[in-house]
Amino acid sequence: MTIILDGKNTANKILENICEKTKQFPKKPKLAVVLVGDNPASEIYVKNKSLKAQSIGFESLVIKLPADVTEDNLLEHVYILNEDVNINAILVQLPLPKHLNSQKIIEAIEPIKDVDGFTSYNFGRLALGYNPYAIPCTPKGIIRLFDEYNINLEGKNILVIGRSNIVGKPLSLLLEGRNATVTMAHSKSIDIKSLAKRSDIIISAVGKANFINSDFIKEGAIVVDVGINRDNNVIIGDVDFISVAPLASFITPVPGGVGPMTIAMLMENTFELFKIQHSLFLI
Ligand code: GUN
Repeated sequence: MTIILDGKNTANKILENICEKTKQFPKKPKLAVVLVGDNPASEIYVKNKSLKAQSIGFESLVIKLPADVTEDNLLEHVYILNEDVNINAILVQLPLPKHLNSQKIIEAIEPIKDVDGFTSYNFGRLALGYNPYAIPCTPKGIIRLFDEYNINLEGKNILVIGRSNIVGKPLSLLLEGRNATVTMAHSKSIDIKSLAKRSDIIISAVGKANFINSDFIKEGAIVVDVGINRDNNVIIGDVDFISVAPLASFITPVPGGVGPMTIAMLMENTFELFKIQHSLFLI
């Protein structure tokens, strides 16, 4: 029997819990999201993040800048947010337009407000096995989903497809931290199908619609789909759910799997940063 890893329901439980805890504080956590340009997908993500923050009692600020904003101007916005004591968490939506150096912008964020955990301070601490202020939201959400379903990662052969700084790299570190044996595949990997076929868990973050089909799956494998591929207005994952699900023991749907968990972790990280900044360890 195949079990659906229900990210939507799990995320809602986490969000309700954060909402309840937030009510205990006289001040509200505040998330600032910086959006540059008019990438339609990014616009939707940012709107969803902002609405979700407000729905659980947070404050949110969206700073929308034109696609041709200069690096100095963007940096100035980040510095102002760093200085603003009312802002607890800063997120610069990626990808940025090509003329901007993403790493330089991310590095300008104060690590204690780096809600994505993308600065070298936080990412470095994650890599070293020390506690960062925040762990990247999508990888953290995937681990939380495994925990919710009592999936033990120790000794499992896990294939992570995709080596991005947002998902693949931090996820590999977290999985290794849970004593899994991790293989990271990417666009230059040879024969991903064979690597997948011998894996207990396959996590796909390649961004190619229906890339993973039943030929990639060992019977009973666990399959996690990070892909959000748009075909007109329809969202399609990296995994061909119809052919893969019957072979899998657990599988995430798209939508309703990893996506909601990412937003829930963004809210959790915002709340954690808020608590650290106010040294409110009362709950
Ligand atoms: N673009 C796609 N995913 C993310 C994310 O988790 N954080 C940021 N900042 N940008 C993204």
